[in-house]
Amino acid sequence: MQDPIPTTALPSGQTIPVLGQGTWHMGEKKTSAAEEAKCLRHGLDLGMTLIDTAEMYADGGAERIVAEAIRGRRNDAFLVSKVLPSNASRDGTIRACESSLKRLGTDHIDLYLLHWRGRYPLRETVEAFESLKQAGKIGAWGVSNFDPDDMEELLGVPDGGHVAANQVLYNLARRGIEYDLLKDSQSRGIPIMAYSPLDEGRLMRHPDLIHIAKAHQATVAQVALAFLIRNPGVIVIPKTGTQERVRENRATVEVHLTDDDLAILDRAFPPPGRKMPLEMI
Ligand SMILES: NC(=O)c1ccc[n+]([C@@H]2O[C@H](COP(=O)([O-])OP(=O)(O)OC[C@H]3O[C@@H](n4cnc5c(N)ncnc54)[C@H](OP(=O)(O)O)[C@@H]3O)[C@@H](O)[C@H]2O)c1
Repeated sequence: MQDPIPTTALPSGQTIPVLGQGTWHMGEKKTSAAEEAKCLRHGLDLGMTLIDTAEMYADGGAERIVAEAIRGRRNDAFLVSKVLPSNASRDGTIRACESSLKRLGTDHIDLYLLHWRGRYPLRETVEAFESLKQAGKIGAWGVSNFDPDDMEELLGVPDGGHVAANQVLYNLARRGIEYDLLKDSQSRGIPIMAYSPLDEGRLMRHPDLIHIAKAHQATVAQVALAFLIRNPGVIVIPKTGTQERVRENRATVEVHLTDDDLAILDRAFPPPGRKMPLEMI
């Protein structure tokens, strides 16, 4: 029996697992589509019920893979999708959401994010998000790639304080948010969803990570993910297209890093000593 996946709370009080599944690059190749859907279903079976997708991924193809994965078990999943900034006008956001709902084969998205800031005023996008919420088409809304200044501005627009999450690049090699954004978000009770938590796979060969992983009879990916989810209010959404790695990522919750491990990691991947511009992929 594995340890259950810890949860964190959205500002509404709804709890969600801190370990979910990403879908970027899924749906790009017909030949791997069935296996990708199987991976997501396997993750659902193991309690990784938060699935992150976006209208942008494979031009809607990733949402179609998610639809396949949740067919007949919609209530097992907490779905996150995103509107492109180029669609994020008042009417455009509503149209984009309705298209995502069709592709996802569902009548609601649990958390709907603005993928990054674009040319439309935040006030317009927030208005659209609020009306989607009223209509029951989304459960909550949030943002992605918002730095502390963007968050301040958002909190200043009408209903901007209803923001439920901020999804940003955060992993051992990119710790900039620890300087300010992470603490601000924690103090406001707004979860941070860490995207590319494995730095898109680039962390795998790091000697210090290999050393720590060996000491815990764990893997490098598990150490990298465990480092992030030890922070209150941080959710990770690793993406994998293989079921073996779904199981491996799920088992992250068994890995508890020690103070010595953390000191080694701080030397190998120094935390920010000054404000850094928010990195994006
Ligand atoms: N909001 C945004 O702007 C934004 C930007 C980027 C990503 N995201 C979201 O965040 C999710 C995760 O980020 P990401 O996909 O960029 O990168 P990631 O999760 O850091 O890394 C994915 C890569 O790591 C490999 N991998 C997964 N598990 C592994 C393991 N246990 N051992 C070794 N390699 C492993 C995967 O390969 P295999 O598939 O072959 O296993 C894939 O190549 C995305 O899928 C997407 O949902 C959001």
